[in-house]
Amino acid sequence: MSEKIEKPKMMDYKRHMLVCVGPRCTEDGESEDLFDSLAEKFKAAGIDKGELRVKRTRTSCFATCKSGPVMCIQPDGIWYYNVTEENLDRIIKEHFVEGKPVEDLIYHRGPECAQA
Ligand code: FES
Repeated sequence: MSEKIEKPKMMDYKRHMLVCVGPRCTEDGESEDLFDSLAEKFKAAGIDKGELRVKRTRTSCFATCKSGPVMCIQPDGIWYYNVTEENLDRIIKEHFVEGKPVEDLIYHRGPECAQA
């Protein structure tokens, strides 16, 4: 008789933010500090739960190691660079809450990218 393997559980989400915390796109751990600020910022914006919930995950490298912090937003296929704290606040308000990507911070769009 085989052992029962438990299936992982995940809460529903509207978008998934993947933040590179690797060593090459920021010099002094700015990406890690940025990631650590997300819980509080998401809660304040009301996107930590509910219909607009944004799931967040650390990644180690996207092989675009320049001008970080860099991050990818799925399923929108939007890639942001130079995500300073001020720019993060813009992304949260304009993209996640209002649904309009922040054009001047985008460095790449994925192949299936709708004009999210
Ligand atoms: S270390 Fe961040 S993209 Fe490579």
